Amino acid sequence: MNNTTLLWELSEGIALLVINRPEVLNALNGQVLEALEAAFERIYTDPEVRGVILTGAGEKAFAAGADIAELSGLDALRGWEQARRGQRLFDRIERCPKPVVAAVNGYALGGGCELAMACHVRFAADTAQFGQPEVNLGLIPGYGGTQRLVRLVGRGRALELLLTGERISAERAYQIGLVNRVVPADRLLEEARAFLKTVLSKGPVAVRLLLEAVAAADLPLEAGLAREAELFGLAMATEDFREGTRAFMEKRKPVFRGR
Ligand code: HXC
Repeated sequence: MNNTTLLWELSEGIALLVINRPEVLNALNGQVLEALEAAFERIYTDPEVRGVILTGAGEKAFAAGADIAELSGLDALRGWEQARRGQRLFDRIERCPKPVVAAVNGYALGGGCELAMACHVRFAADTAQFGQPEVNLGLIPGYGGTQRLVRLVGRGRALELLLTGERISAERAYQIGLVNRVVPADRLLEEARAFLKTVLSKGPVAVRLLLEAVAAADLPLEAGLAREAELFGLAMATEDFREGTRAFMEKRKPVFRGR
């Protein structure tokens, strides 16, 4: 499924997606969005894919935002459509039934930071930088930055970044909870892969139900708790749950079958 703007490599159940426009710091143009839409279509349905790593080509950037040359030609209606299209895609990434790790290898700015925030977890190279610089362009974020950044780091810290457009280091991003881990740049993919392997060694149904349950954390608490209880009940009806508890009693490692 190789397309030159988005490279795809599947190994041991993990799809590695590489945004491949290094000459413009992997800026997200229409082609990248289209390729990501197609890739997630496959990820949702292909049983061979069990987890995903998303990264950028080269050493400088994960993605330096929406493609500014492309944005500059849009009128209000097309700008609104563009924002909605990206939001739909990023929402699909966030709701993906398989774990998605952003391996942030450099600049994650504007739409690039928004893309990383839509992934389930973020690992950053120690050389990465984050920011929502739209304000410098007379714009505001349009791919969910005003919403997901607030949820991840809190309103005050989010506003500080949004209002100044400043870039922050991976270390600072870690301090404020924007990224899960900071690792040496040359170990980034290895660490992301090791994390996914740990997740993939757990009961596959439980992993899927966890992702569903946590997606409900945006609902009011009462509705989120009701969803959690439903999914908990569903987990109890699985063979994996029976196997997991039996293995515990028998003091052995469980063999999960994803049923
Ligand atoms: C298009 C971009 C780009 C972008 C970089 N380039 N970012 N092209 N869109 N977002 C291009 C540059 O024009 C340049 O092309 C090449 O990539 C290398 O970039 P330089 O600026 O020369 O590199 P450097 O000096 O190292 O500076 C890196 C940088 C800077 C600090 C990341 O490129 C930068 O500020 N980029 C813009 C970041 C930004 O504002 N992002 C938010 C976009 S708005 P040439 O041809 O000159 O070599 C957004 C909104 C999302 O994301 C919502 C939409 C609905």
